[in-house]
Amino acid sequence: MKTYSEKDLAINGGDKTIQGFSGKQEPKIGVEEFLELADTWGYSPDTISKIRTIIEKEDVPSPHLARYYGFRTSKVKMLEEYAKTLFGVQHALAVNSGTSALSAAYVGCGIGPGDEVIVPGYTFFATAAEVVAVKAIPVIAEVDDSLTLDPDDVESKITPQTKAIVPVHMAGNCSNMDAVMKIAKRHGLKVIEDNAQACGGKYKGRWLGTIGDAGCFSLSTFKITGAGEGGMVVTNDERIYVRATSYHDTAACWRPDRYAPERFPGELFCGQNYRMSELEGSVILVQLKKTKAQAERYNTNMRRVLCNVGKFSKVKPRRSNDIYGDVGNNLVFFAETPELAGKLAAALEAEGVHAWARGGKTTRDWHIYVYWEHILEHKTATPEGCPFTCPYYKGKLPKYSVDMCPNTLDYVNRALFVGISQWWNEEDCLNVAKALNKVFSVYC
Ligand SMILES: Cc1ncc(COP(=O)(O)O)c(C=O)c1O
Repeated sequence: MKTYSEKDLAINGGDKTIQGFSGKQEPKIGVEEFLELADTWGYSPDTISKIRTIIEKEDVPSPHLARYYGFRTSKVKMLEEYAKTLFGVQHALAVNSGTSALSAAYVGCGIGPGDEVIVPGYTFFATAAEVVAVKAIPVIAEVDDSLTLDPDDVESKITPQTKAIVPVHMAGNCSNMDAVMKIAKRHGLKVIEDNAQACGGKYKGRWLGTIGDAGCFSLSTFKITGAGEGGMVVTNDERIYVRATSYHDTAACWRPDRYAPERFPGELFCGQNYRMSELEGSVILVQLKKTKAQAERYNTNMRRVLCNVGKFSKVKPRRSNDIYGDVGNNLVFFAETPELAGKLAAALEAEGVHAWARGGKTTRDWHIYVYWEHILEHKTATPEGCPFTCPYYKGKLPKYSVDMCPNTLDYVNRALFVGISQWWNEEDCLNVAKALNKVFSVYC
């Protein structure tokens, strides 16, 4: 081996050992990954081969599909900026699911050990589960004949431990936000709107998700706006935003200066990785741009159908807190009995109308508190049973039971859902109303 002295080192002016590498480098993410996406979209092999021929000629570097590696070009950042403009809020934080949005917002609002949070007994389980995940106690309240949180029951469930109320805008329908906000103000509580199921909806002219202290969206495939997995927290409160940001990106890597010292107590703490990827951000950005128009189409069609349905003694439309604000992707009626709701759904399906009802069935459904055995039976990830055994909790644990919210059970069991399409024209809506009148006139 050749011997060198210190002056031979490149750092001291000697020859640089490596002038370059001759192995041909390929982009980490390139043509094949792009074509795999095209395959996911379902393009034919012929089209994919044509796309390959075109894009193989392009010499583009491997993209960063993580949001923080291109501040100006990040699609996730663009999504947040677009959400801020659309909803007229000061802060928007994209996350990787609606569930993550809820826990980030809960933590953002300072919810933790010792606190109670009031949630409706009819919502996707995540609304309540994330309360437990942040070590607080969920208090399950009734929904009323709008299928959203019953303000009277909320009021009766407030204790000195109550920290927040979570109205859920279920199935496209807005909650009674005036009543919820009034109660919250009177008792000094936070309001976190779960708007996973009503993106694009409004209440008295205000976007759902922007009325409380924070609003949470799910932007998953199954939602009105969304694709794959995604979520968002919106707020006008900077502290909530900063804390939600810290929680969503463990140890607050970006806030916005990655290594800056803590600016206020409670800014830096250990969190999760709930970051949204650029792939999701790209698709959801486009999706969110469609939100306003699609909510308008849904709402128009829902009202077109509803105003052409007659009055019947054994089936009544769900009460709306704002018929012009509901998204309108579902039209809900209450039948006199669960069995009748089931019978109506089956008859409507036969007429060509997409309709469904529990109809007295006891099928498990994560949207109904009765099936939240994790909470009802205090099931926790480790045997210590926290938060149900938490010494910081000074209240009296709610008496969870399957019959604790009889009104909720009555409403969900008698509910008849009719799916509305945003793409129907006036004639389609009249035909759906005709089918509803036909079936209701025979059975109701
Ligand atoms: C009311 C409600 N909240 C929260 C969530 C959770 O959203 P995600 O599935 O994106 O985690 C959902 C999803 O179904 C939901 O319907």
